[in-house]
Amino acid sequence: MGSASLSCSMEAFVTRLPFSLPRPETSAQITELRPGQGMSATMNRLVVISNRVPLPSAGPRAGGLAVALDGLMEKRGGLWFGWSGALSSSAAEQIPVITTAGNIDYATVDLTPDEHDRYYNGFSNGVLWPLLHSMPDLIQYDRTDAQIYREVNTRLAAQVAPLIGPDDLIWVHDYHLLPLPAALRAQGVGNPIGFFLHIPFAAPDVLESAPDMAELVTSLLAADLIGFQTEGDLANFAAAAALLTGAVRVGGNFVQIDGRRVLLGVFPVEIEPREFARTAEANARKLPVVRLRQSLPGQTLILGLDRLDPTKGLLQRMSGLRRLLETQPEWKRRITLLQIAAISRKEVGSYRALRAAIDRESGNLNGDFGEPDWLPLRMISHGVDRATAAGFMRAARVGLVTPLRDGMNLVAKEFVAAQNPDDPGVLVLSRFAGAAQQLDAAILVNPHDPDAMAEAMARALTMKLADRQARWQDLWNAIESRSPLGWGRMFLAALLRGAVRGGRIELVDEDVRPAAMAGG
Ligand code: F6P
Repeated sequence: MGSASLSCSMEAFVTRLPFSLPRPETSAQITELRPGQGMSATMNRLVVISNRVPLPSAGPRAGGLAVALDGLMEKRGGLWFGWSGALSSSAAEQIPVITTAGNIDYATVDLTPDEHDRYYNGFSNGVLWPLLHSMPDLIQYDRTDAQIYREVNTRLAAQVAPLIGPDDLIWVHDYHLLPLPAALRAQGVGNPIGFFLHIPFAAPDVLESAPDMAELVTSLLAADLIGFQTEGDLANFAAAAALLTGAVRVGGNFVQIDGRRVLLGVFPVEIEPREFARTAEANARKLPVVRLRQSLPGQTLILGLDRLDPTKGLLQRMSGLRRLLETQPEWKRRITLLQIAAISRKEVGSYRALRAAIDRESGNLNGDFGEPDWLPLRMISHGVDRATAAGFMRAARVGLVTPLRDGMNLVAKEFVAAQNPDDPGVLVLSRFAGAAQQLDAAILVNPHDPDAMAEAMARALTMKLADRQARWQDLWNAIESRSPLGWGRMFLAALLRGAVRGGRIELVDEDVRPAAMAGG
């Protein structure tokens, strides 16, 4: 079934269930559902669980998770459960606070200051984030952090379980919540559970740097579907599951553990390309972009837009610029790199160290190559809103998206969407970003190699119009027919397929034809 026809039936079958629902049936009872009572990707309520919840009161939504899920949740409605963003000492005893906006019910709980320190900063971002990005040298392991991480997941499962109805589809997101599928099962939740990892999954020998990974992978395997950004991530997970838990890979992307089948699938996160293109076009005429252009007389803009994060390759990018100016000094006064590196996770040691290193190196770079009336680098450590960012992208001749490792990197897709097709800029993309699988018409680069970075920048800066247009067209073709909505629907269809094939439910809605479902 194509996404267009799914879209019609989805709107027709949106259901909203009250919160005071009975506790879920067991999986055995769900298996006995009869036609008309069963599971469908289109009509069952969706319960999204993620660490960060984009509460409407928090203002404009940013970050890959919100970009990926907002559209689906707005269209379909449902329940979105997670952390409120606030800290309080009574967090563990809280009943979730419900805030309704449109057809989405947000249910949130606080974290205690200690949990925030250990579950979020310590283990999620101090261990799992670098580890899963294959940067084990950055992990700061502490056994108590690992324990609190598990305890927070157990508590979140207990707090969300009473809100889950018997027909709900559950979709858990990202590395903060690896133990949640098992924790939900321990609460008696028999519903289909899907899990999507927004970041990469590392090879098993890298994973073993953290002693908890066997347990975490086992917990994750309590889901019915586990989704990844790329085939490489899926292959790493399947290898880790085999090595650490004894799960056996069986046909069609299923792994088998304890007599149960779990489906693995690849679902690259997408953007809304046409909408982003419109935003970029409109914002290219607005004041922040006009002022930026006016501040660059006779210069070509190279743009980098990232969170300040060790995975983003910011120091390596500066090394590339340094090498370009050393080896091809004719670019002096003719280019400016605007690097927006929005500070994030500043309580985590590796992020603080990176900020200091970036401040030092950007000072050195400008000191070494700058002139009284020109600096090669403008380093900004606070973010800009998404609309202005879109306008900046359209104004740039070169977009540098050169992470050392990245699950997907939606900025790469956004840069493509933002371009003027008649005079497009050139994307320089790390081959270690998930986006490189789809965007192979970009100039692909190894960010660890400063000479390759310098060559890629020079190539992008000198590329002829016809070549730029041809490459841009290929890149646009790779993203233009995709959307976050299509991504979400593919995942949910595969979740049902996984839950049916795993023996958890019986699929009774003829609207969902297994042949059209993704994931193997
Ligand atoms: O890339 C993974 C991700 O969850 C993104 O969705 C989001 O941009 C970011 O990390 C959120 O990070 P944090 O919750 O630490 O701000």
